[in-house]
Amino acid sequence: MSESWIAKAPSNIALIKYMGKTNSKVNLPTNGSLSLTLGHLLTTVKISELQGSEDQWSALTGEGIQAVELSEKGKRRFLDHFSFLKKEFGIEGTYLIESGNNFPSDCGLASSASSFAALTLASYELAKSKASADYMLSELANLSRKGSGSSCRSLFSPWCQWREDSVEAIEALPNNLLHSVVVVHNGRKKVSSSEAHLRVLTSAVFEGRVERAEKRLSDLKQSLRTKNWKESFEICWAEFWDMHGLFETSAPPFGYMTPQSLQVLNQVREQWEEFNDGPIVTMDAGANVHLIYRADQLELAKDLNQKFSQEYSTYNSF
Ligand code: DP6
Repeated sequence: MSESWIAKAPSNIALIKYMGKTNSKVNLPTNGSLSLTLGHLLTTVKISELQGSEDQWSALTGEGIQAVELSEKGKRRFLDHFSFLKKEFGIEGTYLIESGNNFPSDCGLASSASSFAALTLASYELAKSKASADYMLSELANLSRKGSGSSCRSLFSPWCQWREDSVEAIEALPNNLLHSVVVVHNGRKKVSSSEAHLRVLTSAVFEGRVERAEKRLSDLKQSLRTKNWKESFEICWAEFWDMHGLFETSAPPFGYMTPQSLQVLNQVREQWEEFNDGPIVTMDAGANVHLIYRADQLELAKDLNQKFSQEYSTYNSF
């Protein structure tokens, strides 16, 4: 049997968003972002030696692994990142790259962050087995960033901050948080996030965006550190609406919000209005709603999940 190299990496959800780039070639962001790493949503990448002259990709199968579906463009992008890593690490030969998730690929959860992070880590395993390679985690994160920006944050846990080419774990923020995503739509996005990064620069309200995001980033770290949950919720709420506002005011405008997303958002707002407590809410470049609860809110998380799962599929860490 031929040798193989395997790595796993988690997904992450940004509370302060990476949206807009100063350099699209190497994915440098206009502003700092802060994310929570989602250890329950994992991608596995397996690299094996292959006869032939061209690297190939196929879906990984196995126990607990759900095959990833990639478009031709998606495959190309993944294999291009592998070529880049081979050059960087001085790897020779031809390889088969297989990837799979521990969550269903049709559940509306983006897997590009975990996929690119896992590919970078598996390639590093391969590099280390061929020659001596000694990279720090932050250097590997920067390599992963060049494949897909948000993947650089998946290498640090549970909180990660990324600004320009600096990616680091942020200490002293709460851990053991619970995560849930309400999947109101599981189709492919009409506008990819890479395209969204370009388009938002055309919005009139992009002016001031960097300052707004940076202020929220610093305010959010402070409110999480001081355990001011309500303020953390308010900052994150304003932040994802800011990003979705940029989408809707771009030229041409685009959007991901659906009536179902709004229905879920309204229910969460009502929860906050009635009880002065609830989950932190955020949305990515998609229609699905992510909810983050403190560990002591487990009962609330289960109650709300019971409500949402009557109509939508949900995917939870609890
Ligand atoms: C809305 O990392 O997918 O999820 O660098 O072009 O691959 P590329 O973009 P990507 O952008 C993610 C955008 C986001 C916000 C975030 O994760 O910070």
